[in-house]
Amino acid sequence: MKTQVISACDLDFDRHVIAFREAFAHVSWREEIEPAMSAEFFRWKYRTPYGDAVIAHIAAGGRLVSSAAAFPLMLRTPVGTHLAWQVGDLITTPDARGQGLFRRCLAALVGELGPKGPLICFPNRLSIGEIQRQGFCCVAELRACVRQTLVVRASKILVQDSPPAVQAKASDPRSVCVCKDADYLNWRYVRNPARRYQFIAECNSPESFVVVRELALPLRQRASVVMELSAEDDAGWSRVLGHVHQWAQRRGLICNFLFCSGSPLRAFGKGYIPLPSLLQPKRHRVFMKFPASMDQEQTTTWRYAFQIGDWDGF
Ligand SMILES: CC(C)(COP(=O)(O)OP(=O)(O)OC[C@H]1O[C@@H](n2cnc3c(N)ncnc32)[C@H](O)[C@@H]1OP(=O)(O)O)[C@@H](O)C(=O)NCCC(=O)NCCS
Repeated sequence: MKTQVISACDLDFDRHVIAFREAFAHVSWREEIEPAMSAEFFRWKYRTPYGDAVIAHIAAGGRLVSSAAAFPLMLRTPVGTHLAWQVGDLITTPDARGQGLFRRCLAALVGELGPKGPLICFPNRLSIGEIQRQGFCCVAELRACVRQTLVVRASKILVQDSPPAVQAKASDPRSVCVCKDADYLNWRYVRNPARRYQFIAECNSPESFVVVRELALPLRQRASVVMELSAEDDAGWSRVLGHVHQWAQRRGLICNFLFCSGSPLRAFGKGYIPLPSLLQPKRHRVFMKFPASMDQEQTTTWRYAFQIGDWDGF
């Protein structure tokens, strides 16, 4: 069985989807990922504003049995902006597991893209061991916090399906973060065929905004999740979170979740409480591997500001 590395433009999307459906047939969170297992979804996800995804895969008897993919994005670091790759969609069909196929696909992908730019991955408990073995290091963890959507002061807010025509602001310009211009936001949230997101901003300052999505909770309750929060300073942070609560309350959502890397204290000051990891289906740890051409020592001194919207699985 040969490992092939191809561009998404040469991918057989129907065969890809069949393998995904087999790989995730028995996971408990299948309902959540079901909308993201269609040819239409992968056609969208693997064609980004920065180019096509790269896929390493292995076929046997005409069937796809293992696959690993990476899609391009722009990453800002203290030493410049780089084309980076988010590694994900790591699967082996159940009948082919335990033979090192995932290891081979990942190694082929890392061999192809690793020298070209930073690699980013949000592994789960099954993939984390191999991700680390292939040289990725944990740079950040997104901590979840939650706040009830109590009555909030009403202000005039804009709620729309498309982003304001602005570049998302990273709160700390020295931190490492994914660059989000209007092209990226449109691709990630507006054109996503599987999920619906909303952009919320203040009428008179659309440069501070949040992207939210609704989430089903047990007992037929619903909540909101902040995918992206773009604000220049702490006052902007408070204002846009206030808008989310106002919007969520109007829709009958009981609470709002926020996933912060870096200092969650900033959110605690705004009425959020930390959510114990036991209550979360997954720990959102961000792993990265930098090309040998970058100063590895220096990368360990950087601050990493990732948000849940940076993870392709949500
Ligand atoms: C995770 C998955 C891709 C592994 O595929 P695989 O081809 O069986 O993996 P490999 O045989 O190449 O194993 C490589 C390493 O992966 C890890 N691994 C594989 N299966 C694992 C399991 N069930 N539990 C924990 N670690 C596992 C181990 O570190 C293993 O190394 P080892 O054999 O030295 O212990 C496969 O189980 C799968 O498709 N799972 C469902 C989809 C999923 O959760 N993907 C990860 C998304 S982030």
